[in-house]
Amino acid sequence: MAIIIKNEEDIAGMRLAGRLASEVLDFITPYVQPGISTGEIDRLCHEFMVNVQGTIPAPLNYCPPGYTPYPKAICTSVNDVICHGIPGDKVLKNGDVLNIDITVIKNGYHGDTSRMFYIGAPSILAKRLTEVTYECMWLGIQKVKPGATLGDIGSAIQLHAEKAGYSVVREFCGHGIGKGFHEEPQILHYGKPNSGPKLQAGMIFTIEPMINAGRREIREMSDGWTIKTRDRSLSAQWEHTVLVTEHGYEVLTVSAGSPPPPAFVKPVEHAAAETAAA
Ligand code: MF3
Ligand code: CO
Ligand code: CO
Repeated sequence: MAIIIKNEEDIAGMRLAGRLASEVLDFITPYVQPGISTGEIDRLCHEFMVNVQGTIPAPLNYCPPGYTPYPKAICTSVNDVICHGIPGDKVLKNGDVLNIDITVIKNGYHGDTSRMFYIGAPSILAKRLTEVTYECMWLGIQKVKPGATLGDIGSAIQLHAEKAGYSVVREFCGHGIGKGFHEEPQILHYGKPNSGPKLQAGMIFTIEPMINAGRREIREMSDGWTIKTRDRSLSAQWEHTVLVTEHGYEVLTVSAGSPPPPAFVKPVEHAAAETAAA
């Protein structure tokens, strides 16, 4: 299987799916407060996707080889959960940090995005880890342009995370996305500059670094999905779906409620991306 280069029709479909995925996060934001359970967050998102958006929650019954079918519509990863937390009875309390990861399918196309949420007031560590991870994602995004390599993306993320004293999870990565949920290529969040496959206009993939406050090793829970840090340190993740344009990149998972990029993100690259998109 090779990397699929998307045509204009695909790109239009992916822009819509990307915006809708981001709008699920906008919708759920006011509900993410102390006292709500992750199961209730799932129920609200699921209902919004199906009944308001007319989208399909891609995680529900998703079953890659070696896995049991994923039982819920979204992933909710709290504190030391790195990814794939299954929504359930867990009630959120002041000081928790939560990643909500949404993947919708609209007209056959997938949009995949996640954000971090503070429950009440975060600890200094949780806030710094969350902010550094957001910067990591955007440093990776800023490397995206034709001719750059996948190693350029991974290395930018790894350098920033490790400079802050944090570690990059190795077992999970970003991925090509389109009519498939997980397509080629794999987007590692670590690596060496100027190494690996070169990017071409029309590729679409996610950048979704998982950064641990402590060591990078993971533990798999017996539910077959939930991944935690082995040392029980906090973990954070952000995710966008990104198109390689003629001049740079276009982030597809944007909506009215998207958090703004960090101040270091160059407006000129955005202008180039938007011109290419027009
Ligand atoms: N949304 C996740 C990703 O970013 C994948 C979740 S698979 C699930 O790739 F089955 F756990 F939902
Ligand atoms: Co993804
Ligand atoms: Co995701």
